[in-house]
Amino acid sequence: MSAVARTRTAYFCADCGNETARWQGQCPACEAWNTLVEEPRGARAEAAVPHAGAAAAVPVRLEEVAGAETERWLTGLDEFDFVLGGGLVPGSLVLVGGEPGIGKSTLLLQVAARLETLGRSTLYVSGEESAAQTRLRADRLSESAGRVTFLAETSLEAILARTAALQPAVLFVDSIQTVRTEALEGAPGSVGQVRECAAHLQREAKESGTAIFLVGHVTKGGMVAGPKTLEHIVDTVLYFEGAALDHRVLRASKNRFGAADELGVFRMGQGGLEAVANPSELFLRERGTGASGSAVVATIEGTRPLLVEVQALCSKASYGAAQRVANGFDRQRLTLLLAVLERRAGIAFGELDVFLNVAGGVRLADPAADLAVAAALGSAVFDRALPRDAVFLGEIGLGGEVRAVSQAERRVAEAARMGFATAYLPTRSVPAAPPDGIALQALPDLAALSRAVWQ
Ligand code: TYD
Ligand code: MG
Repeated sequence: MSAVARTRTAYFCADCGNETARWQGQCPACEAWNTLVEEPRGARAEAAVPHAGAAAAVPVRLEEVAGAETERWLTGLDEFDFVLGGGLVPGSLVLVGGEPGIGKSTLLLQVAARLETLGRSTLYVSGEESAAQTRLRADRLSESAGRVTFLAETSLEAILARTAALQPAVLFVDSIQTVRTEALEGAPGSVGQVRECAAHLQREAKESGTAIFLVGHVTKGGMVAGPKTLEHIVDTVLYFEGAALDHRVLRASKNRFGAADELGVFRMGQGGLEAVANPSELFLRERGTGASGSAVVATIEGTRPLLVEVQALCSKASYGAAQRVANGFDRQRLTLLLAVLERRAGIAFGELDVFLNVAGGVRLADPAADLAVAAALGSAVFDRALPRDAVFLGEIGLGGEVRAVSQAERRVAEAARMGFATAYLPTRSVPAAPPDGIALQALPDLAALSRAVWQ
């Protein structure tokens, strides 16, 4: 490495901002570990001082701003448009993350194909696959991707030059971890490179109005390389958060142009990904008959009501400390619910291994899932199956009280639509006008739940 090249970039501590010439494991100033990130030298100083001679932005009254009504480009893949919040916003930067092999490239090639069919020009840049490989994938799809323009490239500068020349309406970069800018020395995929390239592409999107999709690989640990900074830079983050058998769950974990936590369900078939029309039905498809430890929650993910099965299993701990394993549910929340059940409902979990599983690859973040989790845990301990046609919704407080949840009416309506006969819900969430065909059982606290379903 030449001395000249070395002076072009520097390392900055993400915590204290200290600059060093060389990468080190520990910041010499604040002594934090693994916080140094490569950046072009002088980038910070330039950013801090306004360009005196450059055309400065002009302040405007918001009422005078044109085009406040956001334009949307539909891709025609309805479930995808839904997760985006009603289509793609021109000039937006969207990150699509997920584990390798889950279907990111497949999904985006389908989106590109559909956009071309609708008359929007696309440029699909891949640093991972050749044109021939992508053509093979395209041939499998039910969409015709023949009109999509493909470019095998990893240099950011080259990608920007091609984009300027071709002016596509939508640019796809697969993946951000393979792109490298000459402004930095680091290898592609390093935090500095990923961040710098994404920031450049964000500027490009805003200036040209081109919508840009970035593919980001998530490691087994669960994060995109350079995770948080990347999430801050982009407008929208879509994660493939779960896969079970042939279906895939795509969630908007951040969305400047729509509801966060919006969730779309796809099936990976012979012709690529296709939307699942009735997700509740899919999530309940594999339910066993009459086993203990199974409860159905009426959850709201984003703006959509969904029925999902929660399964619990408790068995005598054989080695040392009892285990708490949660799949699709926050482990700390599980620990808290176990403590509340122990203290307020007298169920001793101390010597039991506890396993909790949310079926179908969904991650439940909705507080209303508490009641179903508690019902499943009690059902598992007492080995008493819950009524098969019952759903549960409610948040549980530390005092064992069942607390009100949002949009109870829509949750109950979804349960009624799916043929459930009873909904157990918080007293304060009983809807004024419940839908026909479903009985409502108000539960003030865990003691009431216990009387209703375990005893
Ligand atoms: P891919 O889209 O390459 O995933 P990523 O880009 O996230 O790494 O992987 C898709 C997987 O799906 C791959 O294992 C092949 C399979 N597949 C199908 O089952 N049907 C199809 O029509 C296509 C195109 C792929
Ligand atoms: Mg891929």
